[in-house]
Amino acid sequence: HLLDDRPRPLAGKTAIVTSGPTHEPIDPVRYIANRSSGKQGHAIAAELAALGARVTLVSGPVTIADPQGVATVHVESAREMLDAVEQLLPADIAVMVAAVADWRAAGEAGEKIKKKPGKAPPPLKLTENPDILRTVGHHGKRPTLVVGFAAETQNLIDNAKAKLERKGADFIVANDVSPETGVMGGDRNRVRIVSAKGVDDWPEMDKQSVAARLAGEIARRLQTAIA
Ligand code: CTP
Ligand code: CA
Repeated sequence: HLLDDRPRPLAGKTAIVTSGPTHEPIDPVRYIANRSSGKQGHAIAAELAALGARVTLVSGPVTIADPQGVATVHVESAREMLDAVEQLLPADIAVMVAAVADWRAAGEAGEKIKKKPGKAPPPLKLTENPDILRTVGHHGKRPTLVVGFAAETQNLIDNAKAKLERKGADFIVANDVSPETGVMGGDRNRVRIVSAKGVDDWPEMDKQSVAARLAGEIARRLQTAIA
């Protein structure tokens, strides 16, 4: 961004962004994961940096490159992601974009689970993962601006409003991830910004443009929050 002459409203501000999926081990060779390319979260980290913020990206396992101008911390599981995020507090801004696995195996097997000829498949017992956004939204060192996402396939707005409340976020970026939208893994996204003020419907655009507009929105709302 050397030739980028945009104003830098986030100069002197720190931001934490989570991105990508998490992997929850079942045994040494198997894991539970969500679908997530990391494209949207990585782009948001880069755009916040372009506005002058000092950004740390906490990324789950993805195949895309670390964004430039951002410090990237690589983690695997939800618990590792939470640890990394908490270590980065205090911060001015937190944007939780990661598709965190809601559950992990109740006990990770130390050895590869083997098939037993003639026997039923092994049961997979699950336990709930910590909610990183909710933890940050209610933290003693809560960032001034906390932003979450809501990935939904139905009742988008109602579910996003419930998440806004439950997680203590300033706003939720709601996106419809139904398979026919192509959002998961694709390059385009259509989001709605859900806050206490209401719902703002953005047109469909590429994920880079969503990220740029979101970074601007974050800068604007941070100004308002501080003023
Ligand atoms: N999130 C998180 N930690 C979790 C689960 C979700 O930080 N363990 C964050 C996501 O990064 C996102 C927001 O919470 O910013 C909403 O995630 P989503 O999966 O849509 O919501 P959940 O609360 O997990 O509810 P559900 O999956 O049942 O819709
Ligand atoms: Ca979830």
